[in-house]
Amino acid sequence: MQRPTDYRVIPELPASVYVAPLKRPTGVGEDWLESAQRRYSAEEHRVWDDLYERQMKLMPRRACKEFMFGLDRLNLHRGGIPDFEEISEELRGLTGWSVVPVPMLIPDHVFYYHLANRRFPAGNFIRSREQFDYIQEPDVFHDVFGHVPLLTDPVFASYMEAYGRAGWKALKYNRLKALSALYWYTVEFGLILEEGELRIYGAGILSGPTETVFSLESRAPHRIHLNVDRVMRTDYTISDLQASYFVIESFRELFHMTEQRGFEPIYESLVPGFQYAKTAALDTDHIYHRGTQEYELRGGRGSGASPNC
Ligand SMILES: [Fe+2]
Repeated sequence: MQRPTDYRVIPELPASVYVAPLKRPTGVGEDWLESAQRRYSAEEHRVWDDLYERQMKLMPRRACKEFMFGLDRLNLHRGGIPDFEEISEELRGLTGWSVVPVPMLIPDHVFYYHLANRRFPAGNFIRSREQFDYIQEPDVFHDVFGHVPLLTDPVFASYMEAYGRAGWKALKYNRLKALSALYWYTVEFGLILEEGELRIYGAGILSGPTETVFSLESRAPHRIHLNVDRVMRTDYTISDLQASYFVIESFRELFHMTEQRGFEPIYESLVPGFQYAKTAALDTDHIYHRGTQEYELRGGRGSGASPNC
């Protein structure tokens, strides 16, 4: 008989699974956690405040209501980079989650381990003024402003834990790319219907002004109802605006389509790699908006293409 998975220990990487070789900094253990949150300079706190103010101008009627509730509930308006311990205390009482500091992007299997234990690893650093508009590595603003407010929602909080647990089986079936695509099109770049209107819940969108507007208002990208089997087969863009966004009706629907259905049958049906291009619109898709793909086809960032198309 198979032993039940112990989610309290870091999963082993099977030899068949290849993960990007990240160099673990000295001073952090196997769990990649730093012993404490950094002490930030006054300028670093000001960078947070300026990023916060810029995003908050765009949040009303664009961010979903659960996100706005989470911002209030965690008192993220208080000014300065939030104290992880303070927000964790509040979160623990609400959904059992906590926020823990990591020095940089961490390996997938360690990330799964923390999520499965309701710990959200947050970058322990903030971008500089020079990187104010764009940073590829997730910093404390992306992680705490973008991700943490939704951890106050009980259903979304359960989805995140379930996602972490799903990592163990993704390792077993060697389907990490597929599981990453799911994270990308939900947790990072997801849209949700709210009283018939599209709203944003993805942290990758909510932590930057250009995509906050582009994802909802541009004619360029597709907006398609989320089908888990479909998105886990779909390629995605890492360092530019997305060509397609996927829409859910509710977090309950998202939880139902993944954890309640079970990840195993999904992994079993997947082939390695992606089958669909990020610009694809399939006959089987329920499409809310068929995009022109103008931004993508013109070459995206660096090509001079305008995100306002
Ligand atoms: Fe993120």
